[in-house]
Amino acid sequence: MHKHFDYREGFTVDTEAKYGEKFPYVDYGTAPIDPKRYYDPAQVDIEWEKMWTKTWLLAGFASDVPNVGDYFKFDIGRASIIVVRTRPDELKAFHNVCAHRANTLVTSDFGTVGKCFHCSFHGWEYDLDGNLIKIRDEEIFRPELISHRPGLTEVKLDLWGNFVCVNMDDNCGSLADFLGDIPKHLAGFHLDRFRPYRDDELWWDANWKTAMEAFIEFYHADDVHPEVLGSTETYRMQYDVLPNGHGRMIIPIGLPREYEDGDKISEADQQMLGIWGGTPDDYPEYDLSGRDFKKALTETKRGWAAKNGIDFTQLSDGQVTDDWNYSLFPNVTFNIFADVIMLQRWFPHPTDPEKSRYNAITCAIPVPDKNYKIWDINNFGPEAKGPMNFDGTVRPPRDRHENWEDFGYVLNQDIVLVPEVQKGLKSPGFKGFLPGEAEIRIRHYLAELDRVIAK
Ligand code: FES
Ligand SMILES: [Fe+2]
Repeated sequence: MHKHFDYREGFTVDTEAKYGEKFPYVDYGTAPIDPKRYYDPAQVDIEWEKMWTKTWLLAGFASDVPNVGDYFKFDIGRASIIVVRTRPDELKAFHNVCAHRANTLVTSDFGTVGKCFHCSFHGWEYDLDGNLIKIRDEEIFRPELISHRPGLTEVKLDLWGNFVCVNMDDNCGSLADFLGDIPKHLAGFHLDRFRPYRDDELWWDANWKTAMEAFIEFYHADDVHPEVLGSTETYRMQYDVLPNGHGRMIIPIGLPREYEDGDKISEADQQMLGIWGGTPDDYPEYDLSGRDFKKALTETKRGWAAKNGIDFTQLSDGQVTDDWNYSLFPNVTFNIFADVIMLQRWFPHPTDPEKSRYNAITCAIPVPDKNYKIWDINNFGPEAKGPMNFDGTVRPPRDRHENWEDFGYVLNQDIVLVPEVQKGLKSPGFKGFLPGEAEIRIRHYLAELDRVIAK
């Protein structure tokens, strides 16, 4: 028996949130998606030349370079880019390559160069604005070779709050146009107040698109992540496509349950309340095993925020508890919770279509509450981490992992699965993806990719 489902209408899950309304349905038809684009080496060149070097990319956080001379390195495909604070109120981005003989200028993820970049090959130096300021033994060069004082190649940079975005195309449109209304959608979350708390990286045996696509639908949750079913909706979800290839899904959490009257609150739910300092005793009137759990969770989180001086007042009840999952074209997703964000990025391998680099950064709001346990999906569950005293002043290093076991169990499940999909894509028996309407964001960003490539 099929349930009634109108795919043009889909589900709306948050009628109270600003910008929570379902966006108009876009009909992408039903043509199968050609699996070749996920393993054909020619695609790597096409995507690199037409897309990666032409689009806005989320490079990192302005808060990671607090002082003049601080930098972070952003590696993407065949490029490496340095983002440096040039003045207290100014950031610049440069290709991370010396003009002399192409040495890589900085090799650390984060650091400080003081007043200038010094190349470790022959000692040329560049000031923070990228100007060449020193050529060692300059007299040994013929003047016409260096008379133009070759400096660093600048990359366009703009900020979305604390997010640093770069674009390698000098003739690109503005970041504001690229983002559209997304900053407005998320204004109530005050994304500026989040700081990186954990930063993990891992190479996957899969195309970056194969990998990312497992994160822009939640249709897979029932089979891949059965542990979350008790607390998380997987069917009645809101999927929206947004302009420029962006998209979102809203995943309700802490649902009204279908337990018998008189059931006790589950262990897992009790633990969840405990993250924000709540206990079942706080809600003697509520049926915590069933319909009132979400209400209790919302009230607990609102109370926690108020106690810690964090403004949740612009958030709907849904936004306080649910996962507002946004994807930014081409390679970023944000799982946005009121107090935690999990930011994920997928990067192409420079040459191999069947490898990609995965980066997951948990961001949290620094709070004075020493008992607060960060809801860290990157290492899922409060049991994985003790109470955190996260004041946001220490930037965690980027941890490079060899093993998927290093990730929390939810991510493990995806990490193990994705390479199996990549293998299947090359099977002579596979005729192309058949995405359902819950996977509409896949067709949507691929359509944008095709549009960009065709330009
Ligand atoms: S490559 Fe940088 S100084 Fe020679
Ligand atoms: Fe997943």
